[in-house]
Amino acid sequence: MKRIAVVTSGGDAPGMNAAIRAVTRIGCSRGLEVLGFERGWEGLIANMVRPLTPRSVGGIINLGGTILLTSRCLDFKKREGIRKAAATLAKNRVDGLVVIGGNGSFAGSCELAKESDVRIVGIPATIDNDVYGTDETIGFDTAANTAVDEIDKIRDTAISHERVFIVEVMGRTRGFLAAAVGLTVGAEVILVPEVPYSKDKVVQVLEENAAKGKKSSIIVAAEGIGDTRKLARELEEETGSEVRLSILGYAQRGGTPTMRSRLLASMFSNKAIDVLLDGQENSVVGLQNGNITTTELEKSCRTKKELNLDLLQLAQVLAT
Ligand code: F6P
Repeated sequence: MKRIAVVTSGGDAPGMNAAIRAVTRIGCSRGLEVLGFERGWEGLIANMVRPLTPRSVGGIINLGGTILLTSRCLDFKKREGIRKAAATLAKNRVDGLVVIGGNGSFAGSCELAKESDVRIVGIPATIDNDVYGTDETIGFDTAANTAVDEIDKIRDTAISHERVFIVEVMGRTRGFLAAAVGLTVGAEVILVPEVPYSKDKVVQVLEENAAKGKKSSIIVAAEGIGDTRKLARELEEETGSEVRLSILGYAQRGGTPTMRSRLLASMFSNKAIDVLLDGQENSVVGLQNGNITTTELEKSCRTKKELNLDLLQLAQVLAT
């Protein structure tokens, strides 16, 4: 293994830059040349590449986003695009590829592995925290803290106006972000796609709260549960309370990575370089029960990560 390349792909996540920095510096310290492909898979298809050096990745550990840029690349869903990417890797004499991204990026990596002999290692980075093989992804902690800060502010106005707020957080089809954020803001209700919700049950909780003297409530809803606008309208009609909706949106993907996101980025990158140099199978690195581990790439792609439903039960008890 002489030359490796790094690419960030899919939705950005705070801490991706810390991972680019760490992969580059650890790789160089172990005698590897490091290249960076730009704009995710697009850069592999179109050969948009630049050398990365310990100096060129200076001053980025604290930056959100990704200096390599990223994209959601439709051409990479086609065999022709994947073949072009494989040819680019061969042309640049790349022996190992570090893919920093989420499930979509790792699914793409599995397809690439069918067309290329380049060894691939995935570093999980997504605010959704939905990658199998790791308890936590890079960016999740930062996004969760951003959402918590926002919801604490929303709580102030909710109390003053005696209103109910639905706060929609990201997470695509999964509820990892909503569950963690909901628990830690003391949400009265948490709605996640993994647990089908009943509107009547939500109405009941709000009415019970009102009867107990709780005049305002926060409902944290994952974007994956469906139409939160409609839900807000329905709850207002049925409870007679004022119900407002706040969609937190893309702010959750940006900002300075927290210490935790930077730490994970650094530790995952160290393991990723080990995986490449030790000649292990294509893998995704991760954190499991406090240890830095690896999971076979294909297995990570085809296995669904389970949401810990105990969190929701705990949140319910805490919000009484
Ligand atoms: O996967 C990260 C994520 O932010 C999801 O939470 C969200 O559903 C999606 O990306 C948005 O994707 P896009 O950036 O393509 O709009």
